[in-house]
Amino acid sequence: MKILFWLPQADASAWLNGLARALPGAELREWQPGDNAPADYAVVWHPPRELLAARPGLRAIFNLGAGVDAILAFEHEIPGTLPHDALLVRLEDSGMAEQMSEYVQHAVLRYLRRFDEYALAQARREWHVLAPHPREAFTVGVLGLGVLGSQVARAVASLGVPVRGFSRSAKKLDGIATYSGALHGAQFDAFLDGVKLLVNLLPATPDTEDILDARLFAKLERGAYLVNVARGSHLVEQDLLDALANGTLAAATLDVFRKEPLPDDHPFWREPRITITPHSSALTLRDEAISQIADKIEALARGETVSGIVHLGRGY
Ligand code: NAP
Ligand code: GLV
Repeated sequence: MKILFWLPQADASAWLNGLARALPGAELREWQPGDNAPADYAVVWHPPRELLAARPGLRAIFNLGAGVDAILAFEHEIPGTLPHDALLVRLEDSGMAEQMSEYVQHAVLRYLRRFDEYALAQARREWHVLAPHPREAFTVGVLGLGVLGSQVARAVASLGVPVRGFSRSAKKLDGIATYSGALHGAQFDAFLDGVKLLVNLLPATPDTEDILDARLFAKLERGAYLVNVARGSHLVEQDLLDALANGTLAAATLDVFRKEPLPDDHPFWREPRITITPHSSALTLRDEAISQIADKIEALARGETVSGIVHLGRGY
């Protein structure tokens, strides 16, 4: 079996060696410009269009992350770019849920205990004790209850704050109040009403683009917090700046941005109430990813089905 590999800015040899150990007998190659030769599988992150376009014989594309928006963008721009009949398979957890849970727990505790405000006070050499937010009123809403969102919701609930979640289809999670349906529908409004900290873990699709906007912010508790760990395309950037300026939101923690790396002159760098991390809330872990993908390639080779197949029409 022939496998094409592409991961920008990474040590390809460590990945190719790991894949070779997990799939002895596979012919592995890192894609090079001009390589149009057949392959059975592609293991990629943010691949160039030429790597995928009409690749002969491709059975499945394994995305080295949970979000497949970069690959689906090709298909939206030029329908038919993805090889016909090739499955698109994304990573499912593979060590990301634990990292994401830690990241969001940290943000929840930081805002609950007002450590963000103490950091600003320290910069002004001010000594004031602040009353913590009442825990029972610090409702955390998790937008997206998939592989990551459901585990993040459980991890946040373990901190003792009320947690609720929203997804497209109905879900039942112990200790979490769940809401479902269409974005902007009645259930969505009920989910947002009373939320003090909103965590976004939706996939980037045409339906979810710009979902974090002024209209949504106005439905949260006044002075709410935003944690965006999904994609930059979810956030209307000027609406966030306006919401911080007029007190609709108190602060935001952002891991993802419309343009990454965040440009030097971006106003987010100058806003002290925005905390920035460089798309690092949940990294792809090499050993875990290789093991999950190798197991799925072997299952497909045996003619079995696998989980994590992206529904192209739905976009995730
Ligand atoms: P997932 O398992 O596909 O979960 C997506 C969730 O969003 C599901 O609960 C889904 O509802 C819900 N959803 C999708 N479209 C919706 C809509 N229009 N209305 C309401 N709910 C909708 O994805 P995941 O593995 O949890 O990952 C989520 C996202 O996190 C990824 O797509 C990626 O963008 C981001 N991510 C970021 C990082 C980082 O480092 N910052 C790392 C990993 C992932 P159903 O359950 O009903 O389908
Ligand atoms: C990272 O952003 C991912 O989608 O895995």
